Amino acid sequence: MKKIAILCSGGDVSGMNPALKRFVEYSLEKNLIPYFIYDGYEGLIDNKIEKVSYKNVSGIITKGGTIIGSARSLRFKKKKFRKIAKENLEKLGINSLVILGGDGSFRGVEKFYKEHNIKFSAIPATIDNDINQTDYALGVDTALNIIKDSIDSLRDTANSSKRAFVIETMGRNCGYLAIISYLTSGAELCLIPEIEYNLKDYEKKFQQELTDGRRYFIAIVSEGIKEKTENIAKWFEQKIGIETRITVLGHIQRGGNPTIYDRVMAYKFVTYAIDALLKKNHHSVVCYNKKGFCYKTITEVVSSPKKLDEELLKLL
Ligand code: F6P
Repeated sequence: MKKIAILCSGGDVSGMNPALKRFVEYSLEKNLIPYFIYDGYEGLIDNKIEKVSYKNVSGIITKGGTIIGSARSLRFKKKKFRKIAKENLEKLGINSLVILGGDGSFRGVEKFYKEHNIKFSAIPATIDNDINQTDYALGVDTALNIIKDSIDSLRDTANSSKRAFVIETMGRNCGYLAIISYLTSGAELCLIPEIEYNLKDYEKKFQQELTDGRRYFIAIVSEGIKEKTENIAKWFEQKIGIETRITVLGHIQRGGNPTIYDRVMAYKFVTYAIDALLKKNHHSVVCYNKKGFCYKTITEVVSSPKKLDEELLKLL
């Protein structure tokens, strides 16, 4: 029987555990022997690889994070460590991998494939939703729901105490989390890295609204914008004239019980990933876009940064 292993790489997302569960169950259904690799590429180098079965994944579907750990590995960027990783897999007779991660993780596995012919199928998993060629990356929906709950709570206190709240979302250089949160929370301001802004453009309108009785403002700012979140808060205080507080949502966005959507997507992503390997599609990324699931090459995925949907940007 053929052996297949899975690892999580980069920032963890909620949805990885449902993916691990499907991985084990679908592998067994297809007569493959499933293995877990702990702590991403680090564990691959350190030989933290274990044969698994149903009992390893019972009860994990409700849990955020990943029970096998994830890591950003600097060592895996070096050829000598990739050689050690290959030897570890060879000893166990594993030559197919499923990788959950972002484009940095994909670049790593592509090199691994080219040097050592280790087959792989990659699944986009990052709350940033910044992977080119796919409209969806695992974990985004859960992160958005966490942000939604946080903004809803902050609105309660903002309204009670007549304040502005500047809420910083994650996303690195991608404003996806911020823009969707803005559109779905009724916030007054959204600043993202993809769009040039001038705070002056909002001053008259916001000052007028305050004079007309507005009690609070909610501003969503993406962590990748050109200036510090503190400066946006200062601007509210000094130019608009309202007491302001900052909430940096930070890593809270990465945890939490996986939503139904992420559980379904985890199930489908993994099914497509294993099917790809079974059909001898040996080095692809499973993507999801308007036409449904499809396979892309790593080059197609990593060659250019993801552009936010024009239709979304028009809504700002
Ligand atoms: O890529 C996911 C992400 O959560 C980004 O949104 C954020 O900038 C980064 O990871 C934080 O990284 P770390 O967990 O290493 O602090």
